[in-house]
Amino acid sequence: MKLAVVTGAGSGLGKAIAEDLETIGCYEVVTVGHGCEFNLDTNEDWIDDVKAEYRTPDILVNNAGIIRFGWIEDDAKLHDFEDTFKTNVFAYYNAIRNLKRCSNTNQTYTVINISSMSHRIPYSRSTAYCSSKAAIVAMTASLGRQFFIRWPQCRIYCLAPQLLEGTKMTEQVLADMKATGRPGPQNAVGHLQYRSDVSDTVLWLCKSRPEYLSGSTIEFPGGV
Ligand SMILES: NC(=O)c1ccc[n+]([C@@H]2O[C@H](COP(=O)([O-])OP(=O)(O)OC[C@H]3O[C@@H](n4cnc5c(N)ncnc54)[C@H](OP(=O)(O)O)[C@@H]3O)[C@@H](O)[C@H]2O)c1
Repeated sequence: MKLAVVTGAGSGLGKAIAEDLETIGCYEVVTVGHGCEFNLDTNEDWIDDVKAEYRTPDILVNNAGIIRFGWIEDDAKLHDFEDTFKTNVFAYYNAIRNLKRCSNTNQTYTVINISSMSHRIPYSRSTAYCSSKAAIVAMTASLGRQFFIRWPQCRIYCLAPQLLEGTKMTEQVLADMKATGRPGPQNAVGHLQYRSDVSDTVLWLCKSRPEYLSGSTIEFPGGV
């Protein structure tokens, strides 16, 4: 049975992805993050622990993310940028790097990075977040290109969801829009994006591993 690890799987999208991989995809799933089997904060090389207790994962879903809000001249401080990049970008890169270090030549690997439509259609008060999500898109494209040459057993994809229904991060975004008197979410669909939209795509990518999509980002613009 293939082993999948999902970061930020304690709640929201990560939890939905982990549950669907296990129940629908029939993968063995290890969760990483707050309230999960392995902790991201205390050991940035957590993949070594997964390898020691299980084996090298076949699938890595980099999903854990944070968002901060502020105006540049006011409450958006440099350390918010640093914290956001630490969780949303550096931790993703480090996990992929460690997966490569632990990899075997006779195994195939799939990496899925969770970005956001805000990489292209940004929110005004979360510059660090939108920048970090754009960095994930570029990182996926660059690594995709690199892996065709240096690590052909690994395929890497990025997903860019719209505002999702029912997650803590969505509550934070909506509360900030309301508090600052800005218009609410804009999409042509008429409702927030279902988490199952994204987890279904994760399942498909894990099963199909489309070669020509490796390095690319699948966007969910919702008609925007
Ligand atoms: N919500 C949206 O509208 C939306 C849209 C597009 C993309 N996304 C992306 O989707 C992913 C999941 O977001 P979500 O909406 O499901 O948000 P969420 O409900 O806040 O879930 C994020 C999860 O990641 C965990 N996490 C964050 N930093 C961590 C760290 N350093 N160590 C361990 N766990 C950590 C959180 O734990 P704690 O809560 O305990 O910190 C939480 O369980 C994120 O990458 C987000 O950027 C979300």
